[in-house]
Amino acid sequence: MEKKKSRFETEAIHAGYSNDEHQGSLVPPLYQTSTFTFANAEQGERRFAGKEEGFIYSRLGNPTVKILEDKIAVLEKGEAALAFSSGMAAVSAVLVALTKTGDHILCSQGVYGCTFGLMELLKEKYGIGHDFSLMDSVETLENDILPNTACIYIETPINPTMKLVDLEMVARIANEKGIPVVVDNTFCSPYLQTPLDLGCDIVIHSATKYICGHGDVIAGLVVGNKEFIGQVSRTTQKDIGGIISPFDAWLLLRGIKTLPVRMDRHSANAVRLFEFLKNHAKVDSIYFPGDPEHVDYETMKKQMKQSSGLISFTIKGTKETAQMFMNHLQLIKIAVSLGDAETLIQHPATMTHAVVPEEERRKMGIENTLLRLSVGLEAWEDIKEDLEQAFDKI
Ligand SMILES: Cc1ncc(COP(=O)(O)O)c(C=O)c1O
Repeated sequence: MEKKKSRFETEAIHAGYSNDEHQGSLVPPLYQTSTFTFANAEQGERRFAGKEEGFIYSRLGNPTVKILEDKIAVLEKGEAALAFSSGMAAVSAVLVALTKTGDHILCSQGVYGCTFGLMELLKEKYGIGHDFSLMDSVETLENDILPNTACIYIETPINPTMKLVDLEMVARIANEKGIPVVVDNTFCSPYLQTPLDLGCDIVIHSATKYICGHGDVIAGLVVGNKEFIGQVSRTTQKDIGGIISPFDAWLLLRGIKTLPVRMDRHSANAVRLFEFLKNHAKVDSIYFPGDPEHVDYETMKKQMKQSSGLISFTIKGTKETAQMFMNHLQLIKIAVSLGDAETLIQHPATMTHAVVPEEERRKMGIENTLLRLSVGLEAWEDIKEDLEQAFDKI
């Protein structure tokens, strides 16, 4: 009997797991094991030859990890998924699988600093070039795609300036040319945005962020069609080996159950704080996809369910003013990462994007006075009061 498809909130709790297959255990058990025993030598031979389903060794697959992979595949509307030891392990497994020497990657104008670092490394060591594109119209995109473009790599909202890329538009053009579109969906989670539904091909997550939600795991996820996921599983995942630990997979399974509830609150809190910050005399510019005056507001309404919990803003003054402001905060923690219960603030120019050369950083819109706030789950009034008292001191 085919399983009935449920709504997102229900799938976040139940998808990928069958109690009957695990002695009735309500929650997925933790298979904290490196390897699996075979009943006999012939069974080992059959499993290695792919003639019999079953687990072999946890780098090649683990039951707890498989439950997580099956769940994220359902939530992202993909056919299959793989879990990794970090978001960067996921990004590198995908980019290495998709490219070879001489290829070109077309990238959204602004990506996470280490993704930028990885692209530089691919260029210097393996001759895989990249360019950044605004991707803000069909003309720009068609102009920026080269004959050797092997994939299009997108972050939307773009980290940390919160510009958006119209995924449906990019996917339409890329599909016509047979170029796979990869989307880093970390800032949204599948609750707010499902790029595969819009025609994109591969979704990546730093699961460290909203998917985990509790600041206690570093992990990555990749979702796509069976063929691509099978290829990554047999090559860049197996042989480079950046796999997730079963315990981290178990923690993610626990975190995902509350993803919709958390995302609703992150987004609602962020809207309240945006309204406070936008009118503040010491704030220069503010970048928030939920801002009706944001250049990409229409795209936000088209492809995102809510505006998520991230707000970037520049402070009037200098880099030192921005740092002084951070130092006066009491409730809000100074830390990179995002998507946790705690509200976090970071200074991209000297932290997440410090590896990006100043000229590139400016092109990405990362000024020295830019701060990125990851709005947590606290009472929004307490977060606002903390911001207020820090503003009063600068
Ligand atoms: C958008 C985005 N992608 C990828 C990563 C890398 O993820 P991880 O730190 O889990 O390796 C990050 C980390 O901050 C990120 O913000």
